[in-house]
Amino acid sequence: MKPNPVCVVGACLALLSLSLRAQLPAPITPAWTEVAPGVWKTTVGSPESFTLLSAAGAPAPAVQSLAALPKAAFPLDPKEIEARRWDWKTALRFPLALDEEIYGLGVDFKSMRRTGAIYQLHVDHWSGTPGRTHAPVPLYLSTKGYAVFFNTARYLNITVGHGVRLAAREKPPVIDRTTGKGWSSAPRSDSIEALANAEGMEILVFAGPTPLDALRRYNLYCGGGALPPKWGLGFLTRTPTKYSAEQALNEIAAFRKNGIPLDMLGLEPGWHDQAYPCSFEWDKTRFADPAKFLGEVEKQHVRVNLWFNPYIAPKTPLYEKLLPFAGTHLVWNGIVPDYSMPAAQKIFSDHLARTVLDAGPRAIGGFKIDEVDGSDRYLWPDSANFPSGRDGEQLRQTYGLLLQRTIYDLFHAQNRRTLGQVRGTNGGASRFPFVIYNDNYAFDEYITAVGNTGFAGVLWSPEVRGGKGEDMLRRTQAVCFSPLALFNGWSTPDKLWTHAEVKDAIRDAIVLRLRLLPYFYNAFAQYHYQGTPVIRPMQLVPGFNAALKSESGKLDATANPYAIGKITEVKDQYMFGDALLIAPIPPDVKSRTVILPAGKWYDFFTGKLAGENETIEVTPPSNQTPLFVKDGSLVPMIGERQWAPEAGEIIPLEIRHYGTQSGQLALYDDDGETFNYEHGEFSWTQLRATKDAAGAWHGTVTPGADGRTWHYSDVKWTFMTPTPSSP
Ligand code: GAL
Repeated sequence: MKPNPVCVVGACLALLSLSLRAQLPAPITPAWTEVAPGVWKTTVGSPESFTLLSAAGAPAPAVQSLAALPKAAFPLDPKEIEARRWDWKTALRFPLALDEEIYGLGVDFKSMRRTGAIYQLHVDHWSGTPGRTHAPVPLYLSTKGYAVFFNTARYLNITVGHGVRLAAREKPPVIDRTTGKGWSSAPRSDSIEALANAEGMEILVFAGPTPLDALRRYNLYCGGGALPPKWGLGFLTRTPTKYSAEQALNEIAAFRKNGIPLDMLGLEPGWHDQAYPCSFEWDKTRFADPAKFLGEVEKQHVRVNLWFNPYIAPKTPLYEKLLPFAGTHLVWNGIVPDYSMPAAQKIFSDHLARTVLDAGPRAIGGFKIDEVDGSDRYLWPDSANFPSGRDGEQLRQTYGLLLQRTIYDLFHAQNRRTLGQVRGTNGGASRFPFVIYNDNYAFDEYITAVGNTGFAGVLWSPEVRGGKGEDMLRRTQAVCFSPLALFNGWSTPDKLWTHAEVKDAIRDAIVLRLRLLPYFYNAFAQYHYQGTPVIRPMQLVPGFNAALKSESGKLDATANPYAIGKITEVKDQYMFGDALLIAPIPPDVKSRTVILPAGKWYDFFTGKLAGENETIEVTPPSNQTPLFVKDGSLVPMIGERQWAPEAGEIIPLEIRHYGTQSGQLALYDDDGETFNYEHGEFSWTQLRATKDAAGAWHGTVTPGADGRTWHYSDVKWTFMTPTPSSP
């Protein structure tokens, strides 16, 4: 019988297709091992030993705290996770359900939601490219209650619900663009895909059951969140670049005279005798006697924070010592030490200890690590090499982490806590008491960034930099409800008291910041001991209706079929701690809407019911930020003061109760300045507010096991919400 030519061609094509497909890298189904309660790890290929977590020097995971979270099984179907390796590349595919939303992937300035977008996770000064930010943390969080972390020091490209696979089980429908409805230029895929130029990768999965629990596990796995000193929760002002010792002291005096609380004074480049690149030596024309200056500052109950960029100027003692560790390229003609090498970290840290800290150990509270993010042209190229054998890409992804670790370890060795600023960081940074900032100034982007930090194990401050009265006021109010309350006056003649019309309201905002210090400190203690982020984006708040509105209806083939539907999402309000919902008022805005989650919410200032599970419109007086308190919450506060309580100081405490439900709070305390808490010197005091049969409210205080660390002399209870019988 003659062969049928059609069958022969068909068989040949099938064979060709098989042999072509055999060229595709074989997919691997990774095996997962539980490495801590609710945390699973896998390795694909041959991962490099230098990772984000190794750079951050992550200590042993806080296993006890992890074990206290609800027991959880591996949160994904392992068969749905696929890895591929080829050449010098590692790719991962994780499943994404149609009704699943993804958050995280670092500090983004535009949106909270990640689904449907593509990110290049790359340390960078924010310029608008998704993923290229000051904190491109490769951690994502699912509304299904789990998180995934890619522990690589390589750039990572991630597509979220984008790029439909041929092998996908359920593909989006094929629609004729000319005649059909609902055609999309980016059909939603069922995958989250990650790609790095690496021979392998370590990946971690964190179980929930809630998304917040998954985040807690990530933060605890990284050693627990940062616990700043109490003074770090006060107010920081940064002086103009060229300020001298005398001018800096006058600045402190002006704060005191104006009754504006101050805890930290930041010196900008002018404290170095050379900057850009930096000398790390005091400039003797401006600071003739650093020890005397620091002594004076200390008498004012203020800590100094010193700016630097880490590029070392020639003709300085530090240069010679660090030259053997220098990378192949210079930044502003200074060497770039390879701080991935412990020996280089030690030289730098010893120099800071001897030259800088020794001049006033109690007065120096921390550093501002600038310019570790770069906008490509400010840093070394990716082709740079470093003596450790690492390259420009690896050092770019980790430089901020390495410096935070060096400085944190330096202060830790002296048993003094620090709080600093940093402009570039990455995954594994939860435990570092450093707050990110940048040179942009868009108010809405800054507030979005504050919220996004909650998903990323980092902290962000929307700094104030002067400006007109109303602008300065609204920004100051916003900054007072962020992790670091900061006026960055490095390049402005403006002061917080410049504009008479807003001066008092600015002072009110900063005074309130200080009054709420026990509340904020407690939120940080929860971050440290339980991994709960201090800032909770609304998407993490139980009872919040995060309904997304897609405004893509206008798209059709005759207009622009490739336009991307606009997504409205909530990114202009957030919670700080368990009780307070913050709704910052942008400059030049009188009213705004606030979405209140389920349950009753009360006005912080009046105690009156504000609403429940609804959108309200607020028009606050100019000296207030809209603040709402969850029903049954207890808010601990102290009296008005000009600086944070110092170790050993005993002061009165006010506990405010809001709402109609009984309230309960475990209030943390320790000395607020040292690491003695690591040796058990801390306490959690139980506070309770209950109503008796006659309808009268009562508060009780049950001391924790270690009464030594409770720094309050007496407790005054204020029941803020008027009961029906009260006038
Ligand atoms: C910038 C930094 C500013 C300020 C300035 C001093 O890089 O973002 O906050 O410190 O340097 O030169």
